[in-house]
Amino acid sequence: MNEVSALPIHASAQNGRFVVVNSQPWMADGLTRVQRACFPDLSEAELMGPGHFQQHLQVFPEGQFAVWDNDQQCVAASSTDLCLNIDLAHYAHPYMQEVGDNTLSTHVPGGEWLYGADIGVHPEYRSQGLSTLLYGARQHLVRRLGLKGHVAGAMPKGYGAHAHAMPIEEYVYRVALNELKDPVLSVQLRRGYRVWGIIPDYLDDASCRHYGVFIVWRNPDIGWSERHA
Ligand SMILES: CC(C)(COP(=O)(O)OP(=O)(O)OC[C@H]1O[C@@H](n2cnc3c(N)ncnc32)[C@H](O)[C@@H]1OP(=O)(O)O)[C@@H](O)C(=O)NCCC(=O)NCCS
Repeated sequence: MNEVSALPIHASAQNGRFVVVNSQPWMADGLTRVQRACFPDLSEAELMGPGHFQQHLQVFPEGQFAVWDNDQQCVAASSTDLCLNIDLAHYAHPYMQEVGDNTLSTHVPGGEWLYGADIGVHPEYRSQGLSTLLYGARQHLVRRLGLKGHVAGAMPKGYGAHAHAMPIEEYVYRVALNELKDPVLSVQLRRGYRVWGIIPDYLDDASCRHYGVFIVWRNPDIGWSERHA
């Protein structure tokens, strides 16, 4: 018997069918199921498993979110975050370095930025607003903790289909102009994130040709003059 009904709800949708809660240790297998379904092209070494999710809950429990499906009684989507001090002049680090090989050992309590390690919506649940719920919960966490904002290395998963025709910078530029639609980056840009730069060899995933796109969402509670990193 799960304990979801007793957990604080961070967001909900569709008359309460979907609720965003902080992930729980007993959800580790469900989180792993979502992870494997969401990242079919990612190298095995970079995928998170049950042990990683358990560890994240010890490191930074309030940064771990799950979308729970009250109808099917399962995890439908999840996100993983940690706090870091980010030097925006030197942002181009590989994924595994930033996340301590998926252990979140790099988490800095009191760090200035929320760093998005992961977001995944199980394919059966896409285009129902679940990532929008998760981005909202993460942005709310940024505001509640008084952080500078939310950053992440987005995976431009549509680039593989365009790589023969244009370099990555052209692709990202055209996605930002909404001339091209990327299954990941376009969703993030529509949720208020903006492109800071491109990271070669971000991770081992052919669908994005191993690139990451460093994206930034600034905390609107922080005045412009204080925002300069
Ligand atoms: C990228 C990803 C997280 C998006 O998740 P999602 O839950 O499908 O996203 P949402 O449903 O919130 O929004 C996507 C689209 O669905 C549609 N949508 C949103 N809410 C909707 C609703 N209630 N009803 C119908 N359609 C809706 C919108 O068209 C939206 O597009 P928009 O950006 O133009 O508004 C998901 O595709 C995924 O898990 N991909 C694989 C893992 C991955 O690559 N993660 C990112 C690593 S950086």
